[in-house]
Amino acid sequence: MKKLMVLIATIAAAGCSSSTVEKDYDAEVVRLINSDFKSKGSVQIEKFVQQDEVQKLCSQDGELSQDALASIRDSQMKTVKYPADDQYLGDWEKGIKIANNGKGGQFSDKPGSVSGGNCFGCHQITKEEVAFGTMGPSLYQYGKLRGNSKEIYQYTWAKIYNAQASIACSNMPRFGHAGILTEEQIKDLMALLLDPESPTNK
Ligand code: HEC
Repeated sequence: MKKLMVLIATIAAAGCSSSTVEKDYDAEVVRLINSDFKSKGSVQIEKFVQQDEVQKLCSQDGELSQDALASIRDSQMKTVKYPADDQYLGDWEKGIKIANNGKGGQFSDKPGSVSGGNCFGCHQITKEEVAFGTMGPSLYQYGKLRGNSKEIYQYTWAKIYNAQASIACSNMPRFGHAGILTEEQIKDLMALLLDPESPTNK
């Protein structure tokens, strides 16, 4: 009986590996999206099926080499546009609203309408907001811990503008680069994180 089981298992395993047809699943997904979904409002199908170079690299199977990761960071750092007037901090009260707003890019949104950052969806930021996600690190006391140097302002701005400028293949959306948030909105979020008066730093 035991021998028979082994034999069956062996045949099954051999059968499996020899009959598997190598499918290009990425191409299949693109085909399905194109045939079964329609563009509507802010949702444009092309955005889902056309990846830029970085998205392609980060979606590959297996780990990227250190050189590949470094070159992603370099290319993404070049996309970062710092504030034209060199003023990094806006209004933290507006920042809370932007961080709490998960709207934007949905089929029900009018194209061109203002999007939120949905930062609370992935980060703890203030003690008052208890509904937060944990995919990203807690940002509570961010300014208190990091200080208010120009380097920290620039690092934080670049992180919000294009998270991959510092961590290649980061799971955080590239808010400025992807045109989700405006310069003014990023300033308000900067104030939420770095203004000593913001509840983040109380
Ligand atoms: C989909 C989840 C997600 C969303 C939404 C998101 N983040 Fe992140 N964030 C992450 C992850 C994951 C990291 C850690 C990896 C990294 O640094 O890129 C991170 C890192 C950060 C850091 C760096 C923290 C450090 O210790 O240096 C800052 C600052 C930050 N996020 C701010 C924001 C702000 C502001 C928003 C809203 C505009 C936001 N995040 C929205 C996932 C997210």
